Order: sequence, then C-alpha cells, then structure tokens
Amino acid sequence: MSALTELERRAHAELAACVDAAALRMWHTKYFGDTGAVKLALAQIGKVPKEQRAEYGKEANRVKDALAIAFDAALVKEKDRALERSLTEEVVDVSMPGRNIERGRLHLATRTLREIYSIFADMGFQVYRTREVETDEMNFELLNMPPHHPARDMWDTFHTTTPGVLLRTHTSPGQIHVMREMAPKPVRAILPGMCFRYEQITTRSEIMFQQVEGLAVDQGISMGDLKGAIQAFARRLFGQERKIRIRSSYFPFTEPSIEVDVDCIVCRGKGCGLCKRTGWLEIMGAGLVHPAVLRNGGYDPAKFSGFAFGMGPQRVALLRHGIDDIRLFWGNDLRFLCQF
Ligand code: DAH
Repeated sequence: MSALTELERRAHAELAACVDAAALRMWHTKYFGDTGAVKLALAQIGKVPKEQRAEYGKEANRVKDALAIAFDAALVKEKDRALERSLTEEVVDVSMPGRNIERGRLHLATRTLREIYSIFADMGFQVYRTREVETDEMNFELLNMPPHHPARDMWDTFHTTTPGVLLRTHTSPGQIHVMREMAPKPVRAILPGMCFRYEQITTRSEIMFQQVEGLAVDQGISMGDLKGAIQAFARRLFGQERKIRIRSSYFPFTEPSIEVDVDCIVCRGKGCGLCKRTGWLEIMGAGLVHPAVLRNGGYDPAKFSGFAFGMGPQRVALLRHGIDDIRLFWGNDLRFLCQF
C-alpha cells in the first residue's frame, strides 16, 4: 500500500514538471505503457496476500483512475499553453503591406480586334471564325482565281506537303464558308483571324498577322452601303472628324475593287512621316463581291449583291499608336506589351 502511495505522489510530481507535449508523452509511456509503473502495480494485485488483496486492488484502481484524469487535464492545459505560445511568439503583423498580385492585360492585337468587333457589332455584323489551314480551292479558286491566275502572285503562299492544302494567305476564304452556311439568307459577318505569308520579315511585314474580313450579302446592296459602313467604322476607330478617300484598285474577288485611306491622324492631311508626305493612311481593301464569288457561295448574283472588305488590325494599331515596327506584336517583349 505504501508503494502505491509513493507511486501516486511521484507520478503527480513528475506530471506537474512536464513542460511540453513531448514530456507528457514520455510521462504517459512511463506510467501507462505496457511495462509502465501503473500497469505493474495493477499486475501485483494477484500476488498480494488474500486478506489484503481487495483493499490493495481498490486502491491500485483508484490511483490508476486518478492519474489518468490528471493526465487528461494536463494534456488540455498543454494545448492551451501551446496556442498561447504560438499567438505571442509567432505574431502576424496584419498591418504589413501584402505582396502585390500583378494584373495581366490583353494583348494590343486582341484589344484592337475587340474594338473592331464592337464597332461592327453595332452595325449588325456577327463574328464568324473559319480555319487557318485551307484548301487551294477556298483560298484561291472559289475567290475567282483559277490555277495559274497571275493575281495569285499577290499572295506569297506557304504550301504544305499535302497537295492542295495551304496556310491561308488572307481571311477571304471565310467569305465562301459563311456564305455556304447562310445562303439564301442575308449575311452580315466579320471574319477575324491569323493569316500567313511567305515573306521577308521586316519592320512592316511579318509571316503571320491578323486580318479582319467583312462581308455583307443581301438584295440591293450597293457601293453606297460599303462607303457608309467604312466611313462609320473609320470615324469610330480613328475619330469623328476623319475623312476617308476611296481609290480604285483590283482584287479578283470584287468588282469594282477599291482601296480605302483615312486622312492622316497625325498631320490631318498636311503630310508627315507617318503618312509618308501623302496626307493619307491606307486602311483596307474592299469592293462589291464578284458575281462569280456570290455564285460559289450559293447566291444568285441576279438577285443578290454584296460588299466585302479586308484589313490588318495590327496595321490599324500601328497607325493609331505610332508603332514603328510590326515585329513587336509577336516579339513577346513585356516592355512593349505593358505600354498598352
Ligand atoms: N484579301 C485581301 C488581302 O489579303 C484583302 C481584301 C481586299 C479583302 C478586298 C476583301 C476585299 O474582302 O473585298 O489583301
């Protein structure tokens, strides 16, 4: 019995001296482990002389329970202490400035495209996307350029190793795709996307660049509609006071064909470096859709007519922002990209 009293006293004293969770675990193994002191004391019950056994057993169990309760209480207290320690020792200064998350932005080319979309959307044009890998038929033949037609020289073409398959040199083949889907309903569509040309890379030309094609097909569409649409577009993009100039030109898929200039946004027509002293900036090719192209798209040219135009949005951005090197667009230089 005195051994039990001593055990209990010692165990309480050691428990009180435990300073952290590791010490508590060691204490628990020492007293409650398989060969621990409490286990041993309980094992003694059978060896105690019979007349003292009941009293010893009762006391041994009381000591076991008392120590178990004391241990649980010590554990709870240690958890509180640990929390208190972490709150005071590992202080978080909530007033410290945070780390900035850098905001991304859209590429200048994307932003220009979206501006163009929204201007034409207001005029009832929907965006229609078509493929970048095209057939010779779509890129040339159905646009009124049979094989060996000299006008094909206007487009330096990337051919693939599959005969008749090429990288589109312009977005115009999209005209055939959209007409064939819509015919005989009217069309108001703009066709944006990447084009490819086998050209020398310079400050003014790249082997890949975007175009935005526009197409309107309906009954009774005239040159006046084309002119009105282009003027409205140019004024919204370059400024309300802009003038446009129309020059006659040639494209196999339009008749008549025109090229469109706006008066220079820098010198307002007087002549400067940007407009190369001409006072005008060329922004697009356009025209009335050639009857053969209308027919290839599934429309009867006796009933339907249409206008089409094509422009390079990067060139538009170049003019608007006074950028002097088109290679900057795909150069991925943040010093350039972050300016917009
Ligand atoms: N496809 C022409 C090019 O790549 C641009 C163009 C001119 C498109 C006149 C048209 C158009 O739709 O009517 O240079």
